[in-house]
Formats: sequence, C-alpha cells, structure tokens
Amino acid sequence: MSLTKSVDLRTSDTNRPFMNGAEELPPFPEGWYFVASRESILREKLIEKTWLGEEIVVWCDDAGRVCVADAVCPHLGSHLGPEVGGQICNGRLVCPFHGFEYDTTGQCVATPNAPAPRAAKLKVYETREILGMVFAWFGSGGRPSQWDLPTEPTNGQEGTQSPIRRPTALHSGSSRFCSAMWNFSFLLGFIDGSGLNRSL
Ligand code: FES
Repeated sequence: MSLTKSVDLRTSDTNRPFMNGAEELPPFPEGWYFVASRESILREKLIEKTWLGEEIVVWCDDAGRVCVADAVCPHLGSHLGPEVGGQICNGRLVCPFHGFEYDTTGQCVATPNAPAPRAAKLKVYETREILGMVFAWFGSGGRPSQWDLPTEPTNGQEGTQSPIRRPTALHSGSSRFCSAMWNFSFLLGFIDGSGLNRSL
C-alpha cells in the first residue's frame, strides 16, 4: 500500500498571473475559508480533502479542539489521510508509516519506539468556528491572520456587522476588498475551499 500521494494542484509557474508585469499574485486572496462543519469532522473522525490546492487533514481532539493541517508527515513524508491509513487515536493523528502521533497543535508528542522529536511538527492553519462551521486562514506566503472573524452572527444593529460583511475601506487595498467579498460568498455558502460547488 502506497503511503504517499502525487499531488501537484498548483498552477504551473508559466501559467500564474502577474501584476504590473512583475509581481506574482498569490493563488488565492488572503482570508478565512470554509473547511468543514464540526458535525462532519466528528462524524468522520479524520477528514482529508483538497483545500485551496493543498492536501489537508482535519480532526478534532477529545477536548473539542479542531486541527487543520497539511496532510504530509514531517518525518518522512507519508500522506496522513484516512485513505492511506491515517487515523485518530486518543485525539491524536497517527501517521500510518511509523506511527508518530501529533496533537492538535501539530506537534509530534509520541512515537512507538523513541522520544518524540521536537522538530517533527505539522504545518497547521489558524482556525475559527462560527455556528459549527470551521474556517481556516489562508495567508500569502504563510502570513498569520490579518483580521478576525466574528464569533457570532451579527444582529443587524448599527456597528455590529463583521469586517467581512463591511470591508472597511476600498483605499485600504483592493486585494483586501476582493478577499473580503470572496470570503463573504464563502460565508453565504456559495462556495467552499474545494471550489465552486454550491448554490443557495
Ligand atoms: S513518515 Fe510519518 S512517522 Fe515516519
């Protein structure tokens, strides 16, 4: 059984768009993107999916903390998804190759035969949850989140709407405005990180 996958979903360099003839645009605007519902994470235990061109895994530990991480083991590169044997044990993601165990911070916390190497850490994404929907932050070049999501739905009162529903200013940057509008469509359920796939 193969433990690796050949995945290259990014646009090839020669096809990537350019701005002003020089600056390369990121493949997606920065922002919070829908990943999965908590209900589906709890039901499936371990989810693997393609999200914004990346292979990711999603799971939840016993305390309810959700982790969204790249589906590649930092030890020797095994895929971590359930299709190739990745599984959740006591809230930890267990690599199917050598059994390294990762907690929801992405840190390797145990191995079958030796102390856990501190350098073994998954690439994880910041997450937020609204009404049982889990979102993860996509940052250009790995930048941390630049704005936050509301923790609750707004009630329509003046001054209570989220920065996503009301992008603060066009002059703050057209890319941020586009990102906000893009993410607003995600919140409305038009699309998710897998691509265009839904309508109201
Ligand atoms: S490749 Fe994952 S533990 Fe070795």
